[in-house]
Formats: sequence, structure tokens, C-alpha cells
Amino acid sequence: MFSFFKPQQDSTTNLGKIIALMNQKGGVGKTTMAFNLAHAFAHQGKKVLCIDMDPQGNFSSLFGIEGLEGKTIHQLLINSLKELKALHTGTLISDVMIKAEENIDLLPSGQDLSGFELTVAGINAPRQLILKKFIEKYQLRTQYDVIVIDGPPTLGLLVVNILCAADGVLYPFVPDRFSEQGLKNIQQVVEDIAEMEITSTPKNLGYIPNLFDTRRKQATSDLEKIKDSLGVATMHEAFTNKVQFGKSLAQRKSVFHYKSMEYKDLQRQFTVMTEAVQKELQS
Ligand SMILES: Nc1ncnc2c1ncn2[C@@H]1O[C@H](COP(=O)(O)OP(=O)(O)OP(=O)(O)O)[C@@H](O)[C@H]1O
Ligand SMILES: [Mg+2]
Repeated sequence: MFSFFKPQQDSTTNLGKIIALMNQKGGVGKTTMAFNLAHAFAHQGKKVLCIDMDPQGNFSSLFGIEGLEGKTIHQLLINSLKELKALHTGTLISDVMIKAEENIDLLPSGQDLSGFELTVAGINAPRQLILKKFIEKYQLRTQYDVIVIDGPPTLGLLVVNILCAADGVLYPFVPDRFSEQGLKNIQQVVEDIAEMEITSTPKNLGYIPNLFDTRRKQATSDLEKIKDSLGVATMHEAFTNKVQFGKSLAQRKSVFHYKSMEYKDLQRQFTVMTEAVQKELQS
């Protein structure tokens, strides 16, 4: 079921990059963007690993994987902690890893991941670095060109683990007057991590305005205001409300699966985003 890919890059000089899709707010498009971005990279011939770090498991569902028990990223993270020996199972990474598509592997999540914070509460090892160390232990950066992590709509230990493991973060958001605070809260977590000085913090790869409502009079000025208040980071091209997302996701396909014209513009948007992200991560 699981075989390590041979990545496109020269793995000795250029390790795979870890990109996370984050926002404390729910329903802003994190999973939609993660899924399509992963496919955009795969479409370019890159070897992609998707890691579902949301207990809701929506990222896994899009790959047709649901209701897993015991064979999830959660069990692998627990198995990687010496201090939690009593909770270890014989589950191996090869038991959990799913070859989802031609160039895409998936480490799925499940409801068990919602117990992560409590399960690791008592350990002495740095709880913030569990995912980072797991990725290092299995040398996943040498196996893949890109690792795409889908984050949960929370601000707890799972999010801290993702931020500590990622090279860069993309922040999808719906540009309304409530969106700003959520984005600022997560920036605060990044700053807190920087202050802890336990690891480097991820680059801000930019904000992705999603479900941008062009019919609403205030939409453009709201977005301008948000841009100003968020400062210098990249603002990617906005995604409007697109039926193509609903249609494709219902079929568990990315926008790259379709040949018809109505998907071309979304394909272009994701391709442009992969280029911007790669450039940013190389600089
Ligand atoms: N631009 C868009 N046009 C139309 N539908 C969209 C668009 N973006 C997202 N959606 C839809 O909105 C819903 C929420 O999106 P998604 O699951 O990606 O958000 P999320 O941030 O991952 O949510 P959660 O925080 O619950 O994980 C999904 O049904 C998705 O198909
Ligand atoms: Mg999601």
C-alpha cells in the first residue's frame, strides 16, 4: 500500500517543504485549498504528502478515507513518544500511509486526534515539537517534494505542533469584518512560538481571500482594510464563490481533474499560488 516515492528534487541539497493551511475560524476554505494545492503540486510532477491534522478528518474524506480507528496520524504520533509506551500499538507508518493518487500519499486523521492534547498533557518531552520530530524521525522531507498539512479550526496544541513543523503557512480567510481577529490570533501564536525559542517559526506565505463576494458593495473596501491591517504579507488572488468547488469536491476530485473550460481559471489560480509559495520558500 505504501511505498516511498523518489522525489523530483535532489534530496541531499533541497529537502521537501512543509506547507500548512491554517485559520482558527471554521469553514474558510483550509481543506479546500489544501486539497487543491496538493493536486496542483502533484500535477507538476511533485511528490506530495498530505497530512490531515484536523480531527474532523475532512481532508482524509476528500481522498475517500473515513472513520478510521487506530490507523491514523494520532496513533503514529503517540507511538513516536517514548514516554507514552503504555499507549503504543504495533501500528507502523506503512499501516497508516495511504497511496491516495499517482503522486500523492496521505497520512489520515480520525476522531482519535481530538484526544491528542489530553493524551500528551503529562509528558516531559517538548509537547510542541511532536509532529516536527515525527517528520524528522521518518525523514519525510527526503521522501517528498512537498508536505501539505491541513489544520483544524482551533488554537490549541495541534495548531502549535503544526506551526512548529511547517516551513510556511497559508491563511485562507473569508474577508468579512469578523475575519481579522481570527487571523491576528493565529499570528499571536506564531509570535509566542518565536518567543519560546524552541524552533524556528514558519514563514507567512500569504493570505488567501476566499468566498469573496463581488456583489457586496463593501467587499472590496473590507478587503482593502484587512490588507492594510495585516501589514506586509502577500495577499493572494481572491477566490469567489465557485460552484466548481462544490461539484468537484462532491466527486472527491480536485479542479485539476477536469478538462472543461469552467475549471481553467481555478487551475490557473492554484498554479500561480504554487509558484508564489515555492519562490517564497526558496528565498
Ligand atoms: N470559493 C468557494 N466557493 C464555493 N464553495 C467553497 C469555496 N471555498 C470553500 N467552499 C466550501 O465551503 C465549505 C467549507 O470549506 P472547507 O471545508 O474547505 O473549510 P475549512 O476552513 O477547512 O473548514 P473547517 O475549519 O471546518 O475545517 C466546503 O463545503 C467547501 O466546499
Ligand atoms: Mg477543514
